[in-house]
Amino acid sequence: MKIGLIGYGCVGKGSYQILKEKYPSVIVDKVLVKDKTKERPSDLPITFDVEDIISNPEIDLVIEALDDAETAFIYALEILQQGKALVTANKKMVAENLPLLISTSREYGGRIFYEAAVCGSIPIIQNLNSYYRSEKIKSISGILNGSTNYILTLMYDEGISYKKALKEAQNKGFAESDPTLDVEGYDAANKLSILCYEAFGEYVAPDNITCSGITTITTATIELTKQENKKIKLIARGELQNGKLVTSVKPEIVAPGNPLYNIDNENNSVLIEGEYAGIQQLSGKGAGSLPTGLAVVGDVAKALSANKEPHVVTIHDL
Ligand code: HSE
Repeated sequence: MKIGLIGYGCVGKGSYQILKEKYPSVIVDKVLVKDKTKERPSDLPITFDVEDIISNPEIDLVIEALDDAETAFIYALEILQQGKALVTANKKMVAENLPLLISTSREYGGRIFYEAAVCGSIPIIQNLNSYYRSEKIKSISGILNGSTNYILTLMYDEGISYKKALKEAQNKGFAESDPTLDVEGYDAANKLSILCYEAFGEYVAPDNITCSGITTITTATIELTKQENKKIKLIARGELQNGKLVTSVKPEIVAPGNPLYNIDNENNSVLIEGEYAGIQQLSGKGAGSLPTGLAVVGDVAKALSANKEPHVVTIHDL
């Protein structure tokens, strides 16, 4: 099977590296890049024309690792309409268009996989799609954005300003190229939208999620909570209240003993509360090239081994 890779930034690079190391028999036939002047490995099979991938009959699976959600959406539709498998890490694109992406994949026999769009390395989508199918999920919540968690950790541990901490998160490659998405909570809302779709079978557009970020949190506020041995975390939550799904993203104060208290730096954590199992927690690196690349490659492996499935199976198929 030949693969096309769209985008060779943070996630694209990590995915490419892991594919080479773990699946040497999988051929990455073309890698779409934008900047013609950038230096890249001489053996990277680059192209500047997306049609070399999308319209290439030899390529059955496309990894889409673009930063820009609008362009990613245009490509995603074309890829699915060609009946190809699409593995995407673009949470904004997926969250804003999930129903259409699923229906297009079904109509044209394409398949879509988006584990890497939610919480970096944490295998939450595949767990919701398999293990938790038998569970009655009451709520899903947690820390879904690595940059804001990293910023809050630096402010708490080192007492540095919000602005300086944001710069650090950008330097580490955790933040979006438009960091407003991180710090205003929109990135977490995108991920929550996807999680709610998988957990409850209900699509809540990210715009309809009540959202507030961390931009107004000062070192003084952090210091005050620290004196009480508490921390501030940006928490996303989707929960059934009297049968109605209620969603939010907002900073909350957590005390020791709270399962999210020790989730620091760029780590993410998801709490799944179910009727049968009670509360379960999945934690791990939520951002970064290799952790997110691992999730991409996990989806590639899934797509390759489940070649016969006509489309991604969601809770709606039950
Ligand atoms: N900017 C995102 C984050 C990257 O900080 O969580 C991973 O989705």
